Amino acid sequence: MCYFCKVMILIIDDDDAIRASLTFLLKRSGLTAKAVPGPKEALDEVRLQEPELILMDMNYSLSTTGEEGLELLRKIKIFAPAAPVILMTAWGSISLAVEGMRLGAFDFITKPWDNMALMDRIRTALHLNSERQEEAGTTGRGFDKIIGNSPQIKEVLDAVTRVAPTGASVLITGESGTGKELIAEAIHLNSPRSSGPFVKVNLGGLSSSLFDSEMFGHKKGAFTDAWTDRKGRFELADKGTIFLDEIGELEPVCQVKLLRVLQDRTYEPLGESIPRRTDVRVVSATNRDLQEMVRQGLFREDLFYRLNLIPIHLPPLRERREDIPLLVQYFTRNAGSRAVFSPEAMEYLRRLPYPGNIRELKNIVERALILGGSGTISRDDVVRCTGAPDEHGAASGTASPDSGAPAQTLEEMERDRILRTLSDCNGNVSRAAAALGLTRASLYRRIEKFKINI
Ligand SMILES: Nc1ncnc2c1ncn2[C@@H]1O[C@H](COP(=O)(O)OP(=O)(O)OP(=O)(O)O)[C@@H](O)[C@H]1O
Ligand SMILES: [Mg+2]
Repeated sequence: MCYFCKVMILIIDDDDAIRASLTFLLKRSGLTAKAVPGPKEALDEVRLQEPELILMDMNYSLSTTGEEGLELLRKIKIFAPAAPVILMTAWGSISLAVEGMRLGAFDFITKPWDNMALMDRIRTALHLNSERQEEAGTTGRGFDKIIGNSPQIKEVLDAVTRVAPTGASVLITGESGTGKELIAEAIHLNSPRSSGPFVKVNLGGLSSSLFDSEMFGHKKGAFTDAWTDRKGRFELADKGTIFLDEIGELEPVCQVKLLRVLQDRTYEPLGESIPRRTDVRVVSATNRDLQEMVRQGLFREDLFYRLNLIPIHLPPLRERREDIPLLVQYFTRNAGSRAVFSPEAMEYLRRLPYPGNIRELKNIVERALILGGSGTISRDDVVRCTGAPDEHGAASGTASPDSGAPAQTLEEMERDRILRTLSDCNGNVSRAAAALGLTRASLYRRIEKFKINI
């Protein structure tokens, strides 16, 4: 995002060496930095230069109470309420940082900091802030809900920008919880059909006996229970986009019917003999390998090519772990919380296996916020939410990412995680699926894959 390279960051620290090294770090990352030693100069800069982000030391002149830092923060929030402030606190002054967060600081980092972690937080703050401004201002178009900074997610967003205006059929693939529905909506919102309807159909839950009436509609009296006329999804989606979710679950007899509509752009409601035209854009999604299903004769090849004019693949969260801190912040703020995850909690979150991907991360964050309250969320709070044993009781084969089982593969961690969640939920698959952020169908597929007895 070129927004990132134009931003000015103000550094406030009374230590010459720290000012110099931070300035160097930020400039090397393509940002513009201005460093000042104390509150007076800082307030002048805030008023005149309007920095986009402020990085401030809380412990001036070895003051232990940090009162001076808090006072400066209060003033900054008056003059530049929109600029995110990241506090730098001495080790052991977490309570000062928490007080700062209450006064409106965005985040804090303890000294000595890790350069990578600091840059992560700065990017997170800038990203979320620019999104907030976009939301308040002009564009929007669904991208504001898609959080991530990884090259993989940027590639996906580029693809969305390119394909959205074309009207071509798009097939979105990716594991459960990777954001397929979000992407489908973004395609619609960025297309010339954005003022038309976006109609979602979950084909996974649609039996072949209901398919015709659900998709094409029916006339009153067309069959025994047809008391009134009913509009089908193709009619409801006219001039808009139809989102065919879980397309891989579609039974063969329905595949033929769908193919016919996509080829001829016409269909007949039950009980009506005159074909109707439909003007829809088709976006479909699946967490199955459709190409493999075609090879096995389970999915029609001709339908596959109609749906898959443009493929978009969403990589699993474990392959884009750099998005995790950003997502954690986003879900925290979206839950209306000002809580902060401690660096250890964040590190723990960065390393989980996430069979349920982003939906699972969202569930964990929301649960941790309930457990941890509005201050700092500790690693233990997070551990408790993931159903992993605590640090001391860590048994072998735990899903805890850094509990002394380094040889465990991601698959083994995933299997353990599923086993434990199932046991926590007394074998109730629906509850376990919800806790893991998976659909029931994808949990069943994993149970099969990992040969778990339930
Ligand atoms: N990049 C993202 N930024 C923010 N939230 C996201 C992102 N991707 C997914 N989510 C959130 O994660 C949850 C799951 O996303 P979504 O329903 O789009 O996944 P899906 O791939 O359709 O899953 P499934 O295959 O189980 O239907 C939603 O709450 C969604 O808002
Ligand atoms: Mg979905």
